[in-house]
Amino acid sequence: MKKIALVGAAGNVGRKIVEIINERDSFPDVSITPIGSMRSQGEKIHIKGHDLAVVHIDTIDFSHYDLAIFAAGSKAAQDYVPKATQAGCPVVDCSSFYRMDPKVPLVVPPVNLKDVERYTEKKIISSANCIASPITTVLAPLHQIAPIDRVVLSTYQSVSGAGKDAMNELMHQTKAFYTTMPYQRKVFPKDIAFNVLPMIDVVHPNGNTGEETKIALEIKKVLDRNISIAVQSVRVPVFISHCVSVFVEFSGAITPDQAKDALRLSPHVTVIDDMKNYYSALDAAGEDQVFVSRLRYDPSVENGLIFWTASDNLRRGAALDAVEIAEHLLTKYL
Ligand SMILES: NC(=O)c1ccc[n+]([C@@H]2O[C@H](COP(=O)([O-])OP(=O)(O)OC[C@H]3O[C@@H](n4cnc5c(N)ncnc54)[C@H](OP(=O)(O)O)[C@@H]3O)[C@@H](O)[C@H]2O)c1
Repeated sequence: MKKIALVGAAGNVGRKIVEIINERDSFPDVSITPIGSMRSQGEKIHIKGHDLAVVHIDTIDFSHYDLAIFAAGSKAAQDYVPKATQAGCPVVDCSSFYRMDPKVPLVVPPVNLKDVERYTEKKIISSANCIASPITTVLAPLHQIAPIDRVVLSTYQSVSGAGKDAMNELMHQTKAFYTTMPYQRKVFPKDIAFNVLPMIDVVHPNGNTGEETKIALEIKKVLDRNISIAVQSVRVPVFISHCVSVFVEFSGAITPDQAKDALRLSPHVTVIDDMKNYYSALDAAGEDQVFVSRLRYDPSVENGLIFWTASDNLRRGAALDAVEIAEHLLTKYL
């Protein structure tokens, strides 16, 4: 039986990885060690019928593992991924730290799962950001039938995208609002309850944030470097699911029906035809699909479409991607 080290097992994405492995029949039979920092050490995680205690990362000898999945953030990835790979243990990393490294394949499973084979270069595979992954999943089938020139994205990102502390902040701030109790902000720079924050991550000198830059660069790396991409990222007071308003300009003509037909061929996308209906953030929560609705012509350009996507950010673009990559790696290469 193969052994997996799951770093960040008690976090949002780590817990979802366990949940998906528990429910997924196609995943190979493995033993999983839940790993964390001091904070979650000893916490119990239910894995394949057993309650396993989270182990401190500094006690782990990665040479005893066949694969490590890191869902622990960039700092932990920077500090510990090299320890794993130097011990001969390949790593699937959910953080942004290695994503733009030319020697690290950036894999969005519905689009370029075959790139997993390049894991040998650095023993690291990165999974993409929780906007870049669902958007690439939707753009790839469209790009095949009509090459895309330009994409404009306005995101509506839930608090779970910022980790479990951010979810707690929304919950406690909302409670404090109703009970008029004081609440000290810890995660977001302004109140997130009953508010909308048009800035995620640090701001770069060109005015774009780290999040906006990541999204554009990752879509280009996975799909096509020649596509022009502009992004406005917004945090909204929703617990789970990211939604995106998508404007796509193509190099030639494409009708909404042709686009819907192409999207329907993807097993990872669900399209709604009824123009009076749509998918909300809550509709997508708990689902593996990327949901597309309100697909129509963009009247402001010659060959343009507008649509709305909703996807569960803890699944597509996080845990589901990591599990699919790990499954492919384990069954084909390890
Ligand atoms: N949430 C999303 O939608 C999403 C989407 C795509 C990618 N990601 C990426 O996935 C990663 C995890 O995100 P998340 O939302 O799950 O965050 P989270 O809820 O804050 O969980 C982070 C986990 O990492 C562990 N951790 C942090 N530093 C560690 C260290 N030095 N050593 C060992 N464990 C450490 C934490 O353990 P302790 O509690 O013990 O500190 C915690 O269990 C991040 O890189 C994030 O960018 C997240």
